[in-house]
Amino acid sequence: MSVQPSVRAFDVEGITDHSANRPADADSLKQALRALGGGVSIITAGEGEARTGATVTSATALSVEPPRMLVSLNRTSSTWPVVERFGHFCVNVVGEHHEMIADQFAGRGGLKGPNRYTGAEWTRLISGAPVLEDAVAAIDCEVEEAIERHSHAIVLGRVVGIRIGGGGSLIYRGGRYFALSD
Ligand SMILES: Cc1cc2nc3c(=O)[nH]c(=O)nc-3n(C[C@H](O)[C@H](O)[C@H](O)COP(=O)(O)O)c2cc1C
Repeated sequence: MSVQPSVRAFDVEGITDHSANRPADADSLKQALRALGGGVSIITAGEGEARTGATVTSATALSVEPPRMLVSLNRTSSTWPVVERFGHFCVNVVGEHHEMIADQFAGRGGLKGPNRYTGAEWTRLISGAPVLEDAVAAIDCEVEEAIERHSHAIVLGRVVGIRIGGGGSLIYRGGRYFALSD
């Protein structure tokens, strides 16, 4: 019996084989991720003068049962060591009126640490991490585990408090913010 050569799935049923048209490197991946886009949230951590935080698109749920979040934080950012030290973080889902504060937490304008918190109202829930008073949603977490891999730390958070404010959220795609209304 002759063995048929393997047929790639995308060669059948008339689906065209578009070859990869970029090198599989960091620049191409950045370009592809610009097309992916993502919901914007601010990761906050620390207390008093030790507070800092970062704007991210990598925060998402690992699972809802049990309630667990994950976020990928650059290990060279000011936020990762504070998350590690305090063992907490809050995922503050931001809205269209939070563009300025999202820029502050992305390090634009040069603000550092607690100065990133200026221009907004903050409170706390359970973990002690700062919570944006008028966040679209705030998901307060205690660190369950962190996996340091390559440039980033994948931080898994046990959800200990949730606050839902409502309103439209903010999307970042192609280097620009977009408001997404209900
Ligand atoms: C829309 C957007 C999404 C970002 N997503 C992430 C992310 O998921 N993880 C991360 O480590 N940094 C992310 N960054 C970069 C951080 O916000 C930025 O590097 C950090 O706040 C710089 O802070 P530092 O001065 O504390 O290092 C993102 C920036 C922007 C503008």
